[in-house]
Formats: sequence, structure tokens, C-alpha cells
Amino acid sequence: MPPRLELRSRTPSSWAARTAARLPELLGDHAACELQAAVFALALVGSYAADTLLVDRLSALAAEELRHFRRVAREARRAGGGIPARRRNPYVASLRKACRSGREPEQGLDLLLVGALVEARSHERLAALVPFLADQRLARLYDELAHDEERHGPAYVELAVRHAGEDRTASRLDELLDLEAAALAAARTTAAAVHSAP
Ligand SMILES: [Fe+2]
Ligand SMILES: [Fe+2]
Repeated sequence: MPPRLELRSRTPSSWAARTAARLPELLGDHAACELQAAVFALALVGSYAADTLLVDRLSALAAEELRHFRRVAREARRAGGGIPARRRNPYVASLRKACRSGREPEQGLDLLLVGALVEARSHERLAALVPFLADQRLARLYDELAHDEERHGPAYVELAVRHAGEDRTASRLDELLDLEAAALAAARTTAAAVHSAP
């Protein structure tokens, strides 16, 4: 059985209501997230270029994230918001800080699992926003994007298992799931953001 990617905290609807009420800001932050997801996947493609399956899967994933970026960026512009050029994402930053480096399979394992966790949380957050988006067109877009993100987390876990084996993946995922919930709870910001603390 592949390790289960089950987040250890749930986003309350109060977060979704508050965040959906600040639409231009949310869309700008969300567009930046989609772009970051594409860049992250492509960086892994570059680092593990000899791994044919990883290259195929993550380049396809990056292409999908780039299509998401273009759609959300268009909505951000339509809503009158901009895409932040240099945006801090303290949630992702603390997950990246936990990544081990300099030795394999630990380095690849941690990066692939961080990819899995950010994708799983993004899926949870986009799905939580859907009922609070008054504009039906936007609600449909978020629903569609949430469906796509739902596949991405398990895709990263599958690559992690291939990279480091099932046991090592399961025990590291167990540690990182706790860290993920703590990182999100600590990501306090006044901005409307996909990965802000509830
Ligand atoms: Fe995406
Ligand atoms: Fe994704």
C-alpha cells in the first residue's frame, strides 16, 4: 500500500469566507502559487533529468500548472488585482527549510514530499473556497482547478516511493505531515493568501 497523503489539519470555513471576500488579492496570490508550482516541478525535472518517468510526469505537471497560472492571472487582471512579483510564502519557506540536502535519496525524497504536501494543501484550500465564490464562473474555475490539484499530491508521492522506497517514504511523510500542519498554522499574515494561517 502506498503511503497515505492525509493532511493533519482542516481549513475552517471562516478562513474561506474571509479570503474569498478579498478576491483581487486572493487571485494575485493564487496566480503566483500556480507559477511557483510550475517552477518547482521544472527544477526537479532539471535536477533529475536522467529519470525518464520523473521527467515525463513532472514536465506534464509543470505544463498543467502553467496553464493554471495563465487562467488565474487573467482572472486576477480582470478583478483589478496584480500578480505580486516578489511575494513571501512563509508556509512553503518553512517546508523548504526542513528539506535535507547533499545526500540521496534524502534530498530527492524531501523535495518530492514537500511537492506532495503543498499540492494536497492547495487542493484542500481551493476546494474550500468554491462555496464562497459568488461569481459562478469563478466558482466553476476553482472547482476545476481543485480537481486537477487532487491528482498532483499522489503523483508526487508515487515518485517519492520510486526514489526512496516505500518504508523510507512512509516514515518521512509521517514527520512532514506534522510539520506541514504546524507551518500552515504559523503562516500568519494580514494578506489574503492561499497558504495563510486559518
Ligand atoms: Fe495548479
Ligand atoms: Fe498542482
